[in-house]
Amino acid sequence: MKEQLEAILRTATNAIRNSAAAPDLEALRVKYLGKKGELTAILKQMGKLTAEERPKMGKMANEVRASLESALEEQAAVLAQKALEARLALETVDVTIPGKAVEAGHQHPMYIALDEFKEIFIDMGFEVIDGPEVELSEYNFTKLNTPDDHPAREWSDTFYLDNDSKTLLRTQTSPMQIRAIERYGVPIRMISPGRVYRKDEVDATHSPMFHQVEGLVIDKGVTMADLKGTLNAVIQEIYGSGTKTRFRPHHFPFTEPSCEVDVQCHKCGGKGCPTCKGEGWIEALGAGMVHPKVLSGCGIDPDVYSGYAFGFGLERLAMARYKISDLRLIFENDIRFLEQF
Ligand code: PHE
Repeated sequence: MKEQLEAILRTATNAIRNSAAAPDLEALRVKYLGKKGELTAILKQMGKLTAEERPKMGKMANEVRASLESALEEQAAVLAQKALEARLALETVDVTIPGKAVEAGHQHPMYIALDEFKEIFIDMGFEVIDGPEVELSEYNFTKLNTPDDHPAREWSDTFYLDNDSKTLLRTQTSPMQIRAIERYGVPIRMISPGRVYRKDEVDATHSPMFHQVEGLVIDKGVTMADLKGTLNAVIQEIYGSGTKTRFRPHHFPFTEPSCEVDVQCHKCGGKGCPTCKGEGWIEALGAGMVHPKVLSGCGIDPDVYSGYAFGFGLERLAMARYKISDLRLIFENDIRFLEQF
């Protein structure tokens, strides 16, 4: 029996050490230590032994069992470690493989121009406010002293959103004059950039959607001189100092007097070229002194307060800033164009 036990210990230990996976290990445990296992089978023959031999063999059998059990445990640990190593090897990230280059985008040229523009006004103490693109006719026209029969209200020019012409896509940022006064009261100094919509065909200088920057200053004693001084300073800042401007009389329902401001052509210096269509001047904005009716409509006494308002075309500004010749380039989002800024 001693030889049998020694043989089991040897072969079983060997088999355990050589097993390659957890299920094999379990099969070996059953084969040797299980109820019908080889060691158990030997123990069943204990009865045949002499009284002297029995405890010796019993002790030896227990030692063999303990030794096999610890061999099983050890091998289980070895296999678990191997499995872990295999998984780690499989999941290894090769940090030396060159990565995929992620192309960083950047701001659209018109918004770069807008940021520069905002900075100029913020430095002068203006606040920047935002407003709705879906607007009430009341704000887009009525409160801006634009009568019901004014041509700007025509369905052929305006995107209305209902049949009774109450809501629309704003045709100008000027309704923000009213909203700003209503929200913040006076005195006020603000600009408000945003999209506006008109039923225009697309060409080199027109688009049904474009951007304006509205401006409004109201305080006691504000005059046309403040308007001219401020706008001239802004234009020098944008187009370079020494840039000549021209204030032409104009008409807007919500300003009186009104003007349009032209900037001497940055391309030809005023001689006349294709960029300025031979004029030597490029129209930059509309402006004027806030109409007394607009002020009183907002509950402000025009005898106490006065102010000026202006509206810049943002695309035109960006086109001048970056010498862009066609408005469509700004909206087409052609990457070859955008990458140049
Ligand atoms: N809203 C006018 C336009 O779209 C521009 C403007 C703004 C004129 C403010 C005067 C004062 O043409």
